[in-house]
Amino acid sequence: MTFKPAPWPRKLRSQEWYGGTSRDTIYHRGWMKNQGYPHDLFDGRPVIGIMNTWSDLTPCNGHLRELAEKVKAGVWEAGGFPVEVPAFSASENTFRPSAMMFRNLAALATEEQMRGQPIDGAVLLVGCDKTTPSLMMAAASTDIPSIVVTGGPMLNGYFRGERVGSGTHLWKFSEAVKAGEMTQEEFVEAEASMSRSSGTCNTMGTASTMASMAEALGMALSGNAAIPAVDSRRRVMAQLSGRRIVQMVKDDLKPSDILTKKAFENAIRTNGAIGGSTNAVVHLLALAGRVGVDVTLDDWDRLGRDVATIVNLMPSGEYLMEEFFYAGGLPVVLKRLGEAGQLHKDALTVSGGSIWDEVKDVINHNEDVIRPADRALTDHGGIAVLRGNLAPKGAVLKPSAASAHLLTHRGRAVVFEDIDDYKAKIVDDALDIDETCVMVLKNCGPRGYPGMAEVGNMGLPAKVLKKGITDMVRISDARMSGTAYGTVVLHTAPEAAAGGPLAVVRDGDMIELDVPNRRLHLDISDEELAARLEAWVPAHERPESGYAWLHQAHVMGADTGADLDFLLGCRGRDVGKDSH
Ligand code: FES
Repeated sequence: MTFKPAPWPRKLRSQEWYGGTSRDTIYHRGWMKNQGYPHDLFDGRPVIGIMNTWSDLTPCNGHLRELAEKVKAGVWEAGGFPVEVPAFSASENTFRPSAMMFRNLAALATEEQMRGQPIDGAVLLVGCDKTTPSLMMAAASTDIPSIVVTGGPMLNGYFRGERVGSGTHLWKFSEAVKAGEMTQEEFVEAEASMSRSSGTCNTMGTASTMASMAEALGMALSGNAAIPAVDSRRRVMAQLSGRRIVQMVKDDLKPSDILTKKAFENAIRTNGAIGGSTNAVVHLLALAGRVGVDVTLDDWDRLGRDVATIVNLMPSGEYLMEEFFYAGGLPVVLKRLGEAGQLHKDALTVSGGSIWDEVKDVINHNEDVIRPADRALTDHGGIAVLRGNLAPKGAVLKPSAASAHLLTHRGRAVVFEDIDDYKAKIVDDALDIDETCVMVLKNCGPRGYPGMAEVGNMGLPAKVLKKGITDMVRISDARMSGTAYGTVVLHTAPEAAAGGPLAVVRDGDMIELDVPNRRLHLDISDEELAARLEAWVPAHERPESGYAWLHQAHVMGADTGADLDFLLGCRGRDVGKDSH
């Protein structure tokens, strides 16, 4: 930790708009005054942009306008000038074809909003899956001091006395209906119990994972990730973060000071300890690309291998985020990692101090929710990175969500050329498939779907479910919801739509999955594979215009984070000349 605060007072970038008496300044300042701001607010104090991903159509972030008021209170208290700015909000549960297709667009839009306007520091008000990485990517690209405040998870869901986890039980109940174990009416009755308060998914899905990643990276105040959305302490966290960002601006504590290689290594290990979502892989790779830190898929495999999953939350375990918060939340996990020698204790956080200082004195209040190492859910909780002739650039699998007996498996491929082909075939009882087969889904990667939708955890055929079997090996270039589970190989790269080997798998080919040895093999000869690849033609036409065209023309592979190639790197906070 080598951070040295900048001298204060000094001229901030917002004074390029608001400082002095020039015609341009009067133009900028005068317009702001139509909102009733007194003249002295433009005296050089930090202007804090509250980048708010609230939207009625992002229900997970539906309460963020109320939270923004608490952020504003904190900014005022610390002597700053808060301005609330609407940021692009891509809801995981609504946006088509996939919220992931718009993560980079949201990052691009927010980056330009931050750079092109008089913002000295930013509070990133986020929650739903893509909103957290997209705004962190924007902050990294501008390097404007920024702090993450997440909206917090929903309260526990209950249905007929049982805990119900967002997403996780959607998949479970849907399979139960197919297996004839639950009626459609019961499924509809369960619907409201899954989402009984404001907030994000209450499982350790992608939203909770990314909130935890933000905290482990040092981009949020300690304890932020797990506080339930409706708990009064969530509002306190928002207010404290508003206070804190003002000092960060004065100190010039930037994302590039915090997002170091050590910070990413801490986050990757944390993901293993919490049993976090595979989506964190693409998001952290993309974020690292924005700050120019060398993080690769191999780091994920290397760093996660010996990390025990100690957080007993769905989808890997039993509990939900509310109980994680009561147990002590992420600081307890970070303390455990530190005690196990698996945390860079000196990594800097938005607090201006080290991550270890933040967590070293916390207490675990429930050892069934945050387990001791000798009762870990699994000793090897990280993300497994598989390679082989079917995934030359890698594929990922989450061992803690997989079935132990399937981690080494050889089976006959049943191929679905795209998601529509899957939907059409999977309901056909005549489909030649049983539980020993390997389901292969193509054309669902970053270019393919387009946008790499969360369809990798394909539902099993009813005739298999009716035997009481709940898991099969599934392989695709898609992602999987962080709330999902199963022996599911994801992010296969290069993807099928880019002509990767996945594109040429045929029905009846034999596939070998060997997770202990990190191997994914299509059992055909090298010559046969080369001949098939030579003859390959894309299955779908490319869009001719609009953002879909831009996305497909420039999106990179999942193995490097699926960012747009022209958005790599930090472009800084400097802006061009005033046009007036
Ligand atoms: Fe938005 Fe889960 S769908 S947080």
